[in-house]
Amino acid sequence: MARVIAFANQKGGVAKTTTTLNLGVALMEQGKRVLAVDLDPQGNLTMSQGWNPDEIERSLFDVLVHKLPITEIVRKGEIDIAVSSIDLAGAELALSSMIGRERALDKALLPVKEDYDYILIDTPPSLGLLTINALVASNGVIVPVQCEYLSLRGLVQLENTLTMIRENLNPDVAIQGILPTMYDKRLLHSKEAVEILRENFGDLVLNTKIRKTVRYAEAPVKGMSVLKYDPTGEAASMYRDLAKEVLDGASARQHA
Ligand SMILES: Nc1ncnc2c1ncn2[C@@H]1O[C@H](COP(=O)(O)OP(=O)(O)OP(=O)(O)O)[C@@H](O)[C@H]1O
Ligand SMILES: [Mg+2]
Repeated sequence: MARVIAFANQKGGVAKTTTTLNLGVALMEQGKRVLAVDLDPQGNLTMSQGWNPDEIERSLFDVLVHKLPITEIVRKGEIDIAVSSIDLAGAELALSSMIGRERALDKALLPVKEDYDYILIDTPPSLGLLTINALVASNGVIVPVQCEYLSLRGLVQLENTLTMIRENLNPDVAIQGILPTMYDKRLLHSKEAVEILRENFGDLVLNTKIRKTVRYAEAPVKGMSVLKYDPTGEAASMYRDLAKEVLDGASARQHA
């Protein structure tokens, strides 16, 4: 059965999408079967494989709202991607009056859980119904945090949302890691940000830090992950390190 991981932080531009794709490709390099789910109406994950969300007819909107089987909207890219389209912006409203509105994604993923080792869900920068669907469907949450603009209040809000979801909808979901991103080792500020994270969240802060490099912005323009765009570069190797850390965490969980 797949382990389902959501990438969430209601703050925009912290590298949720970058991490979903590149960690997914790095896990695939390690022999894992990976599905990435683009649950963001902005469709950045879909775009990052070279597809235009404005030209996509059927997407997660149809899966969540019309119960279309998710296999119908999975495209083969570097990894399998359940695609977003502009319609998805209307999903929160369409779902809001439905019974079981928080569990629509969880239900949709059930038939494909045997087909993958990891299902990675990219979420929009909000704590609305789409993100709640992702958290309800997940076993763990990875929270990318931008070292340049650390927002502890935002993290507390996210934790409160998770507590509410554990009490009402999914008792098992928990933060599995906080991932420092856009880390610049030349800046004292970056080091301080990681120290503050460790003081507040201890071991939840992952050992892997994703440093700041322009490669991450270049690759999606070419419709590629950084692992394909610059396979031997440092940007790729940082996500390979993250994949190893995630896999080590998984084997530690199994033996616990
Ligand atoms: N480590 C990094 N160093 C430099 N730039 C990065 C890094 N990671 C991501 N970026 C760039 O920063 C921008 C935001 O990244 P990304 O789209 O992954 O964030 P996001 O959290 O998904 O944003 P949103 O909240 O809008 O969905 C993108 O242009 C991306 O290419
Ligand atoms: Mg994004």
